[in-house]
Amino acid sequence: MPSTVVVGTQWGDEGKGKFTDLFAKEMQMVVRYQGGHNAGHTLVVNGETTALQLIPSGVLYDHITPVIGNGVVVDLGVLIKEIDMLEGKGVSCDRLKLSGNAHLIFPYHQELDVVFERHLGANKLGTTKRGIGPAYADKAFRVGIRVQDLLDQEIFQEKLRVSLNEKGPLLAKVYNRLAPEIENLSKIFLEEYLPRIQPYIADTTDIIHTSLEAGENILFEGAQATFLDLDHGTYPFVTSSNPTAGGACAGAGVGPRHLERIVGIAKAYTTRVGSGPFPAELFDDIADHFVNVGHEYGTNTGRRRRTGWFDAVMLRHAVRLNSLTEIALTKLDVMDELETVKICVAYDIDGERVEKMPYHQSEFHKATPIYEELPGWKTNISGITNPSDLPEAARNYIQALEYQCGIPISLIGVGPGRKQYINWQS
Ligand code: GDP
Ligand code: IMO
Ligand code: MG
Repeated sequence: MPSTVVVGTQWGDEGKGKFTDLFAKEMQMVVRYQGGHNAGHTLVVNGETTALQLIPSGVLYDHITPVIGNGVVVDLGVLIKEIDMLEGKGVSCDRLKLSGNAHLIFPYHQELDVVFERHLGANKLGTTKRGIGPAYADKAFRVGIRVQDLLDQEIFQEKLRVSLNEKGPLLAKVYNRLAPEIENLSKIFLEEYLPRIQPYIADTTDIIHTSLEAGENILFEGAQATFLDLDHGTYPFVTSSNPTAGGACAGAGVGPRHLERIVGIAKAYTTRVGSGPFPAELFDDIADHFVNVGHEYGTNTGRRRRTGWFDAVMLRHAVRLNSLTEIALTKLDVMDELETVKICVAYDIDGERVEKMPYHQSEFHKATPIYEELPGWKTNISGITNPSDLPEAARNYIQALEYQCGIPISLIGVGPGRKQYINWQS
């Protein structure tokens, strides 16, 4: 059965969790394929908020098998806390599957993330300091340690020794930190963590294919977003994985033939947390409006998000990079009180109108937005479920976004709750 991918189209926090949870009703399996606990996906069901970092957003349904795929980097301490949090709320994690090929995040990865950032000074990336970059760097350098290594104590300790031979002196001699101790780490990982996570370790690629062969519906839940993609984002201000739809193939072990519906999640305006270029960024009272009304503070790190108008130039590029079949728009309700709304339809770069993302990053840094301005709707839309009940100005804004992006908008979020959405195509 062909599968669905949910992918962020901007710089993250578009509302992927909310729509993954909504789509999961019709799925049998939800798979995370990249990233780690740098993600923060929020679900609001019957007024109760659940924020997830590692466990796929379909977990709240009894019928879903949540899968953490091989492309994810896993901090086991965080995973165990998340399992405990969910089970404490009465949500069973018994069906959770954790890929044996997923790479582990160790405390020294997190420490390196912190000291690397400190040493970058003014050039810092503004990472989530979760150890994501250093863990993926070890994977690419082929000195990473995988979940399956825990199942063979000798191999695990040997790999840990090799890793610490380098990380110990690096932390102690270059960064003036304490070198990690192998005995201590072995004890935590083998005696504390392993017994807790062993029941979930599985051959997730086999599980995914068995499900596909049985004709089941699978949803691949992207974390981060298109412009945080290691290859296609605003490098170096990116994360260390491939959130774009193609990442679902490598990060889960399926070929592109299986991906049919590719839903790009886009906020009705733009936000970014961390450093990097942001042409449509605002610094005025509209920025404060987005932050205050949209509660634009990191789910995970609590940082204030940078905000700006919807950038259709970026979205058109995201449509291509992900082969998007549709867009699910979120947080339209946050714009309810605005007099006018703007869409960045092109950039001005050195006096020239540019309608595509420039490939040269220096050009992107210089880009200033060219806006199309529309009247606001000045109406509370958070209770609307029928497209024809939307005020005309809101409908005009949605149609202008569709025109600019070149693909249909399928769903529109009008509030954080699971039921707060409009089927725009109905
Ligand atoms: P994710 O990382 O893409 O899953 O997004 P986050 O959960 O980090 O951030 C999105 C925030 O917006 C969360 O607090 C959601 O509850 C909230 N949210 C999602 N969709 C909507 C919407 O349509 N309207 C409003 N007002 N909030 C929304
Ligand atoms: P979700 O899945 C928003 C950003 C960080 C930083 C850059 C690199 O909730 O949308 P990293 O820790 O990954 O090395 O940081 O990426 N970032 C996110 N921004 N949402 C996220 O996840 C993010 N995950 C990482 O702020 O700019
Ligand atoms: Mg988030």
